Amino acid sequence: MIGQLRLVAFGVCVAACAGELNVVYEWGSNINLWTGRREHDERNATAAMEDYVPGNNLVHRMRIWDGAMYVAVPRFKRGVPATLCKSHREPDGGTTLKPFPTIRMQDVGDCFGVQNAKDIEIDHLGQLWTLDAGEVYDLQRTADAPDYTCDPKLLVVNISSGAVLRSAVVPSSMHTAGRTVLSGLSVDLKTLTAVVADVSADNPGFLVYGLRSGVYRKFRCKRLRPADAAANGYNEALLAISPIDNMLYFTTVELDNVFAIPLSVFDVPATRLLADTYDVSHYANDLGPKADTVTAMILDSVGRLYMGMPRAIVSWDTLRGGFDVKQLYAQDDRLQWISSFAFDPDGYLWIVSSAFRDFVDIGSDGHGPADVKIFKSHCGATAFALLTAAGSTGRSPDAVSSVKTVTAAAPLLHYVFATLAIQITFARRTVANDR
Ligand SMILES: *[C@@H]1O[C@H](CO)[C@@H](O)[C@H](O)[C@H]1NC(C)=O
Ligand SMILES: *[C@@H]1O[C@H](CO)[C@@H](O)[C@H](O)[C@H]1NC(C)=O
Repeated sequence: MIGQLRLVAFGVCVAACAGELNVVYEWGSNINLWTGRREHDERNATAAMEDYVPGNNLVHRMRIWDGAMYVAVPRFKRGVPATLCKSHREPDGGTTLKPFPTIRMQDVGDCFGVQNAKDIEIDHLGQLWTLDAGEVYDLQRTADAPDYTCDPKLLVVNISSGAVLRSAVVPSSMHTAGRTVLSGLSVDLKTLTAVVADVSADNPGFLVYGLRSGVYRKFRCKRLRPADAAANGYNEALLAISPIDNMLYFTTVELDNVFAIPLSVFDVPATRLLADTYDVSHYANDLGPKADTVTAMILDSVGRLYMGMPRAIVSWDTLRGGFDVKQLYAQDDRLQWISSFAFDPDGYLWIVSSAFRDFVDIGSDGHGPADVKIFKSHCGATAFALLTAAGSTGRSPDAVSSVKTVTAAAPLLHYVFATLAIQITFARRTVANDR
């Protein structure tokens, strides 16, 4: 088993996305949003459907686990019946995205439920983490809009049972209603610590939440402040934690550059955080400029960072010196706004693209269809969480048969990290020698 794993880990080093970019799912064609009609005893389904505005339902983030897609459909605008969904195969061969874990916990205004899923992540234990922004309709602020204001929170759900393991509300001292802009989510698998970014002009920084300690800490970082707070553009953070070098790679839609900050920065004693001047910006390493606006980012298990831009996908090997970006796909008009990447266990990179720019620019309801397309390409890469997964994850959403993969997560995880650490030391030495 371990030998096999090692082979996988080393095998992906040489592979790259050589394959064609194929559309697997197309909104309204072979994938549909749940419309509530198939459910019998969901009390609130009817009420939710009255408000359904098809053009306002855009898949924003996606993760794959055990043959299913999990997606965040943020409530940027009204008419989104379910903000957190899971894919189901229908007997006719189509796919439906249905509320997960239930529709009952997704009512707007019910602060115990999930209000506005902005980002999701799945860890190696099969736990789905969701960043719930709390407030809804953030791209459709109208005078007569009802004020459903809930506090932001992180929700951790056991994927196999659907049980909510944790609902961690962000302390009121760390956010301000109507001003805080939380986005981005990455989980450090080694410590089960989540990092979220606040890209507000008021109090930009990182929110760090430890699942074991159950404690939030906020680290100011003025680098995350939007360049022009008055500009009406859409902004969000993109975060990727690397368990290989213990760095948090980050950028925002607005920032011109990509940065890396050591996770150890978040270990400072609480007393230092009290100082008003404490700001982690000077620990952030400026890696270099992006060629274009980056709207999605993901890291694979050998330290390659993939970035999605309008009509292009690039990758960068975080283990090599220099910000030498490799173009994987260029000038592909089918790629509009890439809002998410995801890996499956078979080495495929999945890509979610939609007409999000138009959706943002139209202040009112999105005019359907939202033109969501889901592509995949064989990159010979996967995510850390899938490589070291505890559960049965050995299926991609469109695979016919399934193979149960790895068990005994904890020792294996450590083994993988140890192997990678050796690889990295080696790789870096080679790079150093090359110079
Ligand atoms: C919807 O669910 C909430 C609790 O989740 C409940 O208070 C409310 O009455 C329900 N609405 C309807 C129409 O059943
Ligand atoms: C999740 O649920 C499954 C099935 O009920 C259970 O076997 C597993 O231990 C749970 N995992 C966690 C992390 O609670």
